[in-house]
Amino acid sequence: MNPYVSRGLWWVGAVSSVLIALVSYRYFVPAIPVPPNLSANAMAHPWLWVHAGLGATSLLLGPWQFMPRVRARWPRVHGWIGRIYVFSAIVGGIAGLLLASGTTAGPIARAGFGLLAIVSVGIAANGLRLAMVGRYAEHREWMFRSFALIFGAVLLRVYLPLAQAMGLDFMTAYRAISWLAWVPNLIVAELYLRYASFRRPIPRPA
Ligand code: HEM
Repeated sequence: MNPYVSRGLWWVGAVSSVLIALVSYRYFVPAIPVPPNLSANAMAHPWLWVHAGLGATSLLLGPWQFMPRVRARWPRVHGWIGRIYVFSAIVGGIAGLLLASGTTAGPIARAGFGLLAIVSVGIAANGLRLAMVGRYAEHREWMFRSFALIFGAVLLRVYLPLAQAMGLDFMTAYRAISWLAWVPNLIVAELYLRYASFRRPIPRPA
């Protein structure tokens, strides 16, 4: 891919991720009420806070891990941010699975969010395993897949208002988006890894 295009996409992704992450920390501001449809989630206490806090952290940290300069200059920083990212993605994903089981949006949304949780926890864990055994080229690919799924949190918050602007029924759109926010991302990530990324070996950090 043209480096200007990939840098531009990275910036759009990074800025939108940071914005949505910061907005998601609002659950820790006691003055801001939890929307009724979410407090009705049978698993909201305490998992909504575990999930929103850790989900937001993975979204906030993820983009910087793909900056080659940071990886090359400060491999230890990359390693520590990576550990926090993986912890947040895995524990936040497990909390997401619990929330999926308690959603008030019905079986389609339960299945969409539930499968997203299982797939994203598995992918993040595999990415961590590959780094631990020094298979850095594959590690980078699996972490790319992982962030493509985490980025679904941004897309969900873009698609929902879009669906409302199009006059679609909220619940119908919500159920569809529980799948549309992540399945296409995984397909696009796979196509990118196969056809567009530069497949160069990553040297083991000193
Ligand atoms: C990766 C897998 C993820 C899964 C499976 C997942 C699943 C869920 C589920 C099931 C709910 C409750 C929905 C309901 O009750 O109808 C929820 C809400 C929420 N999630 Fe996630 N989520 C994921 C990633 C993220 C990420 C990366 C963030 C980062 C911002 C995030 C932030 C939130 C927030 C803030 C809420 C509360 C609703 C809102 O304010 O929009 N989630 N998530």
